[in-house]
Amino acid sequence: MKTILITGGAGFIGSNFVKYMLNSHPDYKIVNVDVLTYAGNLENLADVEGNPNYVFAKGDIVDRPFIADLFDQYDFDTVVNFAAESHVDRSIEDPEIFIKSNVMGTLVLLDEAKFHWQTGKDDNGYPTYRDGVRYHQVSTDEVYGALGKTGMFTEVTPIAPNSPYSASKASADLLVRSYGQTFKLPVTISRCSNNYGPYHFPEKLIPLMISNVVALKSLPVYGDGMQIRDWLHVKDHCSGIDTILEKGMAGEVYNIGGNNEKANIDIVNLIIEDVGEMLRSGKYAIDNDGSKISKDLITYVEDRLGHDRRYAIDNSKITTELGWEPSYTFEEGIAETIKWYLNNQEWLEQVKSGDYQQYYEKMYSKK
Ligand code: NAD
Ligand code: DAU
Repeated sequence: MKTILITGGAGFIGSNFVKYMLNSHPDYKIVNVDVLTYAGNLENLADVEGNPNYVFAKGDIVDRPFIADLFDQYDFDTVVNFAAESHVDRSIEDPEIFIKSNVMGTLVLLDEAKFHWQTGKDDNGYPTYRDGVRYHQVSTDEVYGALGKTGMFTEVTPIAPNSPYSASKASADLLVRSYGQTFKLPVTISRCSNNYGPYHFPEKLIPLMISNVVALKSLPVYGDGMQIRDWLHVKDHCSGIDTILEKGMAGEVYNIGGNNEKANIDIVNLIIEDVGEMLRSGKYAIDNDGSKISKDLITYVEDRLGHDRRYAIDNSKITTELGWEPSYTFEEGIAETIKWYLNNQEWLEQVKSGDYQQYYEKMYSKK
């Protein structure tokens, strides 16, 4: 029986991971800590409420006494830190919260893990820790910056973040590395490419485009739409992290990616085609028969500042050393994801209520 602290477990990837771990490891206890920002939603976890191996605790990872109490209350073996501000566009508008949550929050978690797991010191003065403990940092390929037409990010590509978001994630990675080096804390870091799948907040490209096609709203494509991202289904990200927890070496960084590079405009065109076809089939209880869905919905808008042109992940370390492989092809994953959104319009409407409309107006009216 392991007890795992998952932070940010009410967000997109965190909620998928909580469910993935409860299913894959019925003998683990999962404690999910989330402060419930605009992106945190307990509806994402409705199907695990009442599971005796699952506990939710509302709170901020920056709140040191709160995190210290949790470590006292639960004897964590593992920390998996998802909690973060995650949207690049928001970091351009207001970077400060990114530094607080993503950098200071990581520092608090590292400190408390170190304090609570330490058993003594070795002959050289380095802390020693309880057997089997691990701090895992969920990071991003964006810390490597941007690629030109060729090449891929490997784990030794120099860190060169370009947005306040990626700078905050890179800072957190460097802190994690330093706790591994200076205090010998057993740490691992995963750097993953763009995720897609169920419960993705509709400020991000794929869910925003699905949501707008269904609502017959314009589809805001930044710049020329030829920026390239490497897409991975969220469940494959979850299995990648689980593999690192099981087999990864302390002190190591592992890239996670699906060898699936796509230009943004190709994704948008695919969503237009797939949503149109699904709605024209008449199988969905949605007030849109698909007849007005076309590429005319695409609107090219002002580009994102500092927009990274291309990301591509070399995943050979995790595939060869740990035996992990992605299980989804993009075609099946995106079709399944679109169906999920068409079948979960209530979820979509609920997350688009609140301050979402204000955010949308603010971000897109000026573009
Ligand atoms: P998300 O925005 O959907 O969810 C983030 C969650 O963290 C929310 O539930 C939010 O309430 C919570 N949170 C934020 N600040 C907090 C704080 N101070 N204390 C406690 N909880 C807090 O993000 P996501 O897309 O699920 O990303 C999760 C993690 O994965 C992030 O660290 C992100 O950098 C990383 N990542 C994301 C992607 C991607 O494509 N989405 C790819 C690679 C890595
Ligand atoms: O690469 C991993 C990263 O992927 C994660 O670390 C981030 O947390 C996650 O948000 C994501 O960042 P991106 O900036 O790549 O994702 P986003 O969905 O915001 O944008 C994807 C691409 O689509 C990017 O090139 C910008 C473009 N875009 C985005 C939006 C929201 C548009 O053209 N129009 C849009 O309206």
